[in-house]
Amino acid sequence: MRIGIVGAGWMGHEHTTAWRNNAPRGTVVAVADASSERARHLAGTLPDADVRTFADLPAMLSDGEIDAVDICLPHHLHTQAILQAARAGVAILCEKPVCTTLDDAATIGATLAETGVTFMAAHNQLFQPSLVEAKRLLASGALGRPFVIRSIEAVQNRGFVTGKVPIDLGGGESPWAWRADKAKMGGGEVLDTGWHATYRLLALADERPIEVVAMTDRFHVKQLDVEDTGVVMVRFASGAIGEILTSWAFAPVGGWHFEVGAQHGSLAGSRTRLVHQLHGWTEAVEIANEPAHTFTDEVAHFLDVVQRGAPSQATFADAARVLQVTMAIYASAEQKRIIALPEDPVVPGEPVA
Ligand SMILES: NC(=O)c1ccc[n+]([C@@H]2O[C@H](COP(=O)([O-])OP(=O)(O)OC[C@H]3O[C@@H](n4cnc5c(N)ncnc54)[C@H](O)[C@@H]3O)[C@@H](O)[C@H]2O)c1
Repeated sequence: MRIGIVGAGWMGHEHTTAWRNNAPRGTVVAVADASSERARHLAGTLPDADVRTFADLPAMLSDGEIDAVDICLPHHLHTQAILQAARAGVAILCEKPVCTTLDDAATIGATLAETGVTFMAAHNQLFQPSLVEAKRLLASGALGRPFVIRSIEAVQNRGFVTGKVPIDLGGGESPWAWRADKAKMGGGEVLDTGWHATYRLLALADERPIEVVAMTDRFHVKQLDVEDTGVVMVRFASGAIGEILTSWAFAPVGGWHFEVGAQHGSLAGSRTRLVHQLHGWTEAVEIANEPAHTFTDEVAHFLDVVQRGAPSQATFADAARVLQVTMAIYASAEQKRIIALPEDPVVPGEPVA
């Protein structure tokens, strides 16, 4: 499959590594970025000397040489890019968040249905080995009915001050610069890093969220005029209670990403560990794993979905549901009320009377 990357920044580089790790099933043949320097820099990291570079997505699409586009753009550009790619008939892998408003989600959903192109949300942490194993354990029924599910994504973010990125992007603006502009960011930390915590919670629960209540605040990142921390509770249809803790203000001790308290036992998972213990048993069972490059597994899954028709683990509806929960978090924090979520994920929640 011939791949075009749009957005040759931080994620453009991570995804390119992932595509290289999946070669030759998918090959990056084109890179588009508003900065020609950045596009050339990313193309230069690829083994094929003929990688073409473009100033934007429409130019890359009209060249007609790609089968799929990998969208790694700032948030405010996702909707337009998805619509352009869908109308050009190419498969789409798109970084989170799918878009920043539910109106946009409705338009995207209708366009994907009309064009029939494959869309997958780039929810890379679904491929964390400890989460994959936890989902398997829960689905087996070994722990019984889940009562409480907690998802944590928190780090002290110093990027807004230092502008540092872990990767050489070949010059240009820091990835934190556009995040400080709400018109480009579309929200705050909950929409950005908190997105991972939300889709992880939904993946662990594997059922419909029906109510959301939240508090948010800005404790640490002075460059934001929106929140840098969210504490959220989510009620699921079965009655299970979910919790989201997400922050750019602090890193919690222990590195846990999720915990589940269930009828017969409990589990907790981090990037490299899954621990579970049945109630009444004296010993916990621990499974260790090497840190995974989850983007590589995400791209492998996208290839399975497009090339082999595998059921997608991150459909448009899944991404829209994450957005619906995120918007309910903002509504709840602002109105200090519980928000009920309709079944259709592109319809906004309403305050519980
Ligand atoms: N999954 C993760 O762990 C993770 C981590 C970081 C970022 N992200 C997501 O990846 C996306 C990109 O974030 P980033 O940190 O890589 O940002 P970035 O600023 O590093 O990269 C964005 C790139 O888009 C380019 N660009 C801007 N406008 C453009 C246009 N109109 N046409 C073409 N190129 C344009 C910029 O020049 C820049 O190179 C965001 O959606 C973000 O939330 C995901």
